[in-house]
Amino acid sequence: MELKFLFCAICGILMAGTIGFSDEVIKSVQLPAPDKSGGKPLMEVLSKRQSIRNISSKEIPVQVLSNLLWAAFGINRPESGKKTAPSAVNAQEIDIYVAMQKGLYVYNAKNNTLDPVVSKDIRSTANESPAVLSAPVLLIYVADYSRMPKFPQETRDFFSATDTGFISQNVYLFCASEGLATVVMGSFTKERLTKEMNLKKEQKIILIQPVGYPK
Ligand SMILES: Cc1cc2nc3c(=O)[nH]c(=O)nc-3n(C[C@H](O)[C@H](O)[C@H](O)COP(=O)(O)O)c2cc1C
Repeated sequence: MELKFLFCAICGILMAGTIGFSDEVIKSVQLPAPDKSGGKPLMEVLSKRQSIRNISSKEIPVQVLSNLLWAAFGINRPESGKKTAPSAVNAQEIDIYVAMQKGLYVYNAKNNTLDPVVSKDIRSTANESPAVLSAPVLLIYVADYSRMPKFPQETRDFFSATDTGFISQNVYLFCASEGLATVVMGSFTKERLTKEMNLKKEQKIILIQPVGYPK
């Protein structure tokens, strides 16, 4: 009886050690303050804006990631909490999820942090296109309908799609200014991705957008 107990205890310790080693739990990442100066002139950026699908796996420095997320949907008027992209009835229902090799995070514009969601690389779940598989950063735009409770579903869908378009265009413009490559995508495996992301019933993925350096 005692021997059996000892054997179980040893097995438990060994298993816990293995899980702890292979399943590194991701933590909140404090991003550096976004650099709001510089960048190319607007007309030059508009001339360069394009979809680029040949994306290298080279990592994006954390400062550039912070700048990118602020440009996408960061707070540009702290007194009101309003952001770099417009939002229907200021519902701010779109969250930017950030999928990287180390795991899935959600951008917290108020704290300028990446909050942990899933300690797993879910990028290949989204889409098997080379752009998604190779890009170091995959932005996933998710609408949270619980932030627009008063509207019928048709209006929620319309607002969420248009709001995502503005954010995605900010990303396109930032990428054009920074020499980064990106493409917005409506084609992704919605069901699998929703499951992997642990989304709530009221959350819906609208579009995905890989970002990286051009190949
Ligand atoms: C709502 C939307 C969905 C899109 N979905 C995809 C997609 O699934 N795959 C893809 O490669 N490009 C996708 N695109 C990118 C378009 O193909 C691209 O914008 C178009 O060919 C024009 O090229 P440009 O962005 O370089 O001007 C999408 C664009 C939009 C606006």
